[in-house]
Amino acid sequence: MLMISLRRCILTLLVGIAAAILGIVYQRTIGISFDFPNIFSQSNNIITSPQMASKPVIVVGSGLAGLSAAHEALRAGAKVHLLERALKPGGNSIKASSGINGAGTRFQKALGVELDDKFYDDTVRSAGQRFREAAEGKSLNVNRSQLIEALTRRSESAVHWLADEIGVDLSVVAPLGGHSIPRTHRGAGQTPPGAAIITTLLKKLGEDQNFQLSTSAEVVSLDVAADGAVKGVRYVSVSDGAKYDLEGHVVFAPGGFAGDANGLLAKHRPDLAGIPSTNEAKPASHGLLDAVGAEFVDMDSVQVHPTGFVDPKDPGATYKFLAAEVLRGEGGILLSGEGKRFVNEMETREVVSKAIMELPSQDSGSTRQWDVTLLLDPGACEATAGHLGFYLFKGFMEKKKVKDLSPQVIEAVDRYAATVAAGTDADFGRRNFGHWRLVPGEANREEEVCVGKVTPITHFTMGGAAFNEKAQVLGRGLVPVKGLWAAGEITGGIHGDNRLGGSSLLECVVFGRIAGAEAAKAVAQE
Ligand SMILES: Cc1cc2nc3c(=O)[nH]c(=O)nc-3n(C[C@H](O)[C@H](O)[C@H](O)COP(=O)(O)OP(=O)(O)OC[C@H]3O[C@@H](n4cnc5c(N)ncnc54)[C@H](O)[C@@H]3O)c2cc1C
Ligand SMILES: *[C@@H]1O[C@H](CO)[C@@H](O)[C@H](O)[C@H]1NC(C)=O
Repeated sequence: MLMISLRRCILTLLVGIAAAILGIVYQRTIGISFDFPNIFSQSNNIITSPQMASKPVIVVGSGLAGLSAAHEALRAGAKVHLLERALKPGGNSIKASSGINGAGTRFQKALGVELDDKFYDDTVRSAGQRFREAAEGKSLNVNRSQLIEALTRRSESAVHWLADEIGVDLSVVAPLGGHSIPRTHRGAGQTPPGAAIITTLLKKLGEDQNFQLSTSAEVVSLDVAADGAVKGVRYVSVSDGAKYDLEGHVVFAPGGFAGDANGLLAKHRPDLAGIPSTNEAKPASHGLLDAVGAEFVDMDSVQVHPTGFVDPKDPGATYKFLAAEVLRGEGGILLSGEGKRFVNEMETREVVSKAIMELPSQDSGSTRQWDVTLLLDPGACEATAGHLGFYLFKGFMEKKKVKDLSPQVIEAVDRYAATVAAGTDADFGRRNFGHWRLVPGEANREEEVCVGKVTPITHFTMGGAAFNEKAQVLGRGLVPVKGLWAAGEITGGIHGDNRLGGSSLLECVVFGRIAGAEAAKAVAQE
């Protein structure tokens, strides 16, 4: 007996010390503090957290959707316990680089956009065939127009909330592809929007006594009452395997499944199995919702980018950086492993990706990839200098004199330079040559081009759990599952065929806030 309790004491102490160290390291990196789950009663290796005066709203996932939900639940008077399986919070949200959409914001007005009533239409157009088929009753009948209406109508207040209540600079508005009006917001400084939003929100949440964040805490199941209502979660400490049961209403915000390349992605898109991703390589958490009867929509709708950088230092990495489309837009070309062009580089992402995937593959372990060279002439290098600095620094691209390229690549460069000089691309029909100015022949041999290896990558999963405008997860027969809300990339039905850039951060804020407020309201009504 004594031995056991002594060992337990030491164990608890060690866990405490580890937690303290992690906490300190953590406070340094992000600048917030948080509590670790207390270890109290213990039976059958299941540890039950001490009962709070009222049950907390349990938020699963600390990306933008989870943090937005936590903030709103706190504001509505609830206690919040946020569970995150990674060592650090922020998910894929912290990496977002373009910005967040808002229609009708004061920042848009400052730019001279007096009226923006096209956001709904732009979103429906981008959602494409899946939206039309749903409207005709050909697919699962989630109310897509209602979701898009909520997303777009609340976009102005989402951006103003981040700017005014949270304190994030979002004063710069830029045009992105698929938008008829500039409406994607980011800050004026160097910090990318994802990092700016996440760190500011975390700091804000950390100031609230009713907020508790547990990292390295992976939710492994949702607990269901006899009547089918979700009444809590079971989670596991990633560091020591201890299991915990926590009671409360649940906001589920664990992100998408692009990083689950050999799991959920392979299941719904066998053609994309093993493809690297801009998302962290992690198993998806969709199965937890499936287990409580949630419906899913558009699971085979996955955003693929033709060009992710193959890092020469770690070519087989499943996690890759995006090679911005602007590199091709400003004049870059793509060459096969044999040093030949094979596609009009200005085609849509789908067409270019497909053309690459028809080349012989060059797999690395379980990662499926292709041997493609992205090459920019001096004109294109100059036009993209802002991006190139980072890519050169990271070693994704390098500068080389034409004479130092392989004979096949020199031949392809000369052939393309002649094409640009002639003004028509008889090979592939490219019409826009960007800033390419390299001339064909011996005269170009001392000129410097920028080259790097690229391969298709997955970026975003449009599909996910069926849900409604109150962010309730919908089960069989599209009936809401009691006690369960969801927000962010885990949900489906908004983006259909294709997500507009900037709209996923937006859905995190809009539906995360709704989910947090609704879950808190349900707690108060008990
Ligand atoms: C490189 C990059 C750039 C992007 N740029 C933009 C952009 O500029 N604008 C835009 O709108 N969108 C952008 N996106 C997309 C956007 O960032 C994501 O779709 C969005 O951030 C998803 O947020 P989320 O909160 O749903 O999930 P995430 O931010 O991915 O967070 C989910 C969290 O849940 C945790 N989790 C998962 N399962 C469990 C579990 N079982 N238990 C506990 N925790 C769990 C994960 O560890 C993760 O931290 C970009 C994406 C990437 C990868
Ligand atoms: C979808 O929601 C809108 C309200 O936003 C409503 O007018 C419409 O009838 C709903 N459609 C269906 C099929 O329920």
